[in-house]
Amino acid sequence: MKRIGSQVTIAMDGPAGSGKSTVARRIAERLGLLYLDSGAMYRAVTLLAIQEKLAADSPKLIDLVKACRIEFTNNGKTILLDAEDVSVQIRTPVVNKLVADVAKIPEIRREIVKHQQRIGAAGNIIAEGRDLTTIVFPNADFKFYLDASVTERAKRRLAELQTQNVDVTLAAVEAEIRARDEKDTTREHSPLRAAEDAIIIDTTCTTVEEVVDFIIAQIRRSEECQQ
Ligand code: DC
Repeated sequence: MKRIGSQVTIAMDGPAGSGKSTVARRIAERLGLLYLDSGAMYRAVTLLAIQEKLAADSPKLIDLVKACRIEFTNNGKTILLDAEDVSVQIRTPVVNKLVADVAKIPEIRREIVKHQQRIGAAGNIIAEGRDLTTIVFPNADFKFYLDASVTERAKRRLAELQTQNVDVTLAAVEAEIRARDEKDTTREHSPLRAAEDAIIIDTTCTTVEEVVDFIIAQIRRSEECQQ
C-alpha cells in the first residue's frame, strides 16, 4: 500500500444510507483529498433524461451523455451539468425514483466510469459509490465497504427528509431503501458488492466521527508500516 504523503486513491462503496458520503467528505477535508461523489454523476444523467423526456435506455440519452459536461466544483460539493449548477435538482424525489434504472444501462456506466477514471488519474482522491472498489479503481490504495442495517439506514434517511419537511413514514422509507438495494445488488452490470480486498465496516451503531477515525487510523497504520 502507498503512503498517504504521496498520491493516494481511496475507494469506498456501500448501499444508500450507509454513511459513505458523509464519511468520505470528512476524510477528504481532514486529509486534503479531492472528493468524488460518483452517485451524483448518475443523478445528473437521470436529470438529463428527465429534462429531455428520454427513457433510461434511449440511444439518444447515451449520445447526450457522451456530449455533456459533468464537472465538480467546491471540492465535490457542487455538480455542474453543462455549466449549470444542478446540485439541488439531482436530489429531488423524481430523480431518486428513476436513477437506479439509468445507472443500470451499460453504455451509460461505461461513459461515466471513463469520466471518473479521468478525474481520479491524478490521485489524491477519495471516491465513493457502488462500484468504485470493484470497477472504477480496482487498484485503489485503500478500499472500504460501509454497511448498516436497513432499519438504521431508513432512520437516517427519514431524519434527512424531515429536515426538508417531507411528510413520510419510516415504513415507506424502509420500503424505498429495500427496493433500491434490490436494484443495485441484482443488476447485471457492476452490481453493488464488497470487493474481496475491501475492509468492511458496519456503521449501524457507530457515529460518523468513529468511522472517520477508524479509516484514518487504518491509513496511518499502513503509512507507519512503510517507514
Ligand atoms: O449514492 P446515490 O444514492 O447518490 O446513488 C444514486 C444511484 O446511482 C443509486 O441507485 C446507485 C447508482 N450508483 C451506481 O450505480 N454506481 C455508482 N458508482 C454510484 C451510484
